Amino acid sequence: MTNFDYYAPTKVVFGKGTEDQAGDLVREQGATKVLVHYGSGSVKRSGLLERIYQSLEQAGIPFVSLGGVVPNPRLSLVYQGIELCKKEHVDFILAVGGGSVIDSGKAIGYGVANEGDVWDFYERKRVAAGCLPIGVVLTIAAAGSEMSNSSVITNEDGWLKRGYGNDCCRARFAVMNPELTMTLPKYQTASGCVDIMMHTMERYFNQEENLDLTDGFSEHLIRTVMENARILMKEPDNYKARAEVMWAGSLSHNGLTGCGTAGGDWASHQLEHELGGMFDVAHGAGLSAVWGSWARYVLEGNPGRFAQFAVRVMGQEKGKDDTETALRGICAMEEFYHQVEMPTSLSELGINPTEEQLHSLAEKCSHFGKRTVGCIKKLDQEDMYQIYKMAM
Ligand code: NZQ
Ligand code: ZN
Repeated sequence: MTNFDYYAPTKVVFGKGTEDQAGDLVREQGATKVLVHYGSGSVKRSGLLERIYQSLEQAGIPFVSLGGVVPNPRLSLVYQGIELCKKEHVDFILAVGGGSVIDSGKAIGYGVANEGDVWDFYERKRVAAGCLPIGVVLTIAAAGSEMSNSSVITNEDGWLKRGYGNDCCRARFAVMNPELTMTLPKYQTASGCVDIMMHTMERYFNQEENLDLTDGFSEHLIRTVMENARILMKEPDNYKARAEVMWAGSLSHNGLTGCGTAGGDWASHQLEHELGGMFDVAHGAGLSAVWGSWARYVLEGNPGRFAQFAVRVMGQEKGKDDTETALRGICAMEEFYHQVEMPTSLSELGINPTEEQLHSLAEKCSHFGKRTVGCIKKLDQEDMYQIYKMAM
């Protein structure tokens, strides 16, 4: 077991009606003026935003608001948010939405708490010294940003999608009412479930010795999400299934399933981020579209690990060797993706990159040849190109 730090400071307030506590939770944090940050309209249509405003008013907290965050959240709106917060002397950000809203809120928080261009952090040019405190009212179980230390932003100048991780952006609290996710379109529910599974799978595919507790926890988390995702495809209002998935979403990306690993692989995420940046696809759907190709490409880097996944997570019989068992597991996972109507190729994802675009994706993913990604097999620019090509 590799040495590790586990830091999960976010207070979780989980269950029906919990959004009504938002105002009190903000007040507990000592906020004097709040930015309410939200997306493109779902929180208005559901009436949630109005309830949050009321909760803040009842708690006596003044606020300003900024909506308009889109999936694959844009840097230009982050700049607007930073200006607004400075002008209005905002000292707390309340993100009401999903990963995109939370990530945009975190970026605004960095921009207010630090001098200079906030994009520098995402370009790894500087390290942020702080972030405005953030609270979350979650409306989609997916990205896990409500408990993670990460924020992913797309810069329209070059359509670069870049993540930045720093513990100082971790949310002070996360309000999670599974009922709020019942209005999600089927596609977003399924895409969210894929993302949740992938946050644990990225950590699970590592080069460690067997980890009894972390592996067992991870395997059960992935199976739980698969089982409940299937239920939600037929019964979107099933509270128990919504709740299981929502809690899994937070635990899958708050570091717990990575304890004792050296961090995990994360190549599928890096490959997807370029697809999101260039083609604006839903993150989870982009992940399922590349995962099978990634897995087949890197398999020989640790066939035993893939075989364990096949047997313990995907319930496959052992084959004549680890490679055969592993391949059965990969096929079974792709079958699951299809069951929840998620793509397993770029064409199923609805995109058809040209040869030139495939090279451009690999170029961006390798930071123009300056980095490799992954630990099962270290992938350079040429490997990335091959995986994108296989995923067509
Ligand atoms: O904008 P609105 O109108 O709210 O619509 C959203 C959006 O279109 C809609 N939605 C959200 N809650 C809803 C709802 N529609 C109906 N009812 C509800 N209750 O769903 C759509 C997707 O929302 P988004 O916030 O983009 O989804 P998600 O949570 O999947 O976030 C995706 C973003 O997070 C990043 C991804 O790369 C992507 O940019 N990630 C962030 C991570 C992190 N910060 O730790 C880790 C992840 O790996 C991921 O990279
Ligand atoms: Zn993700």
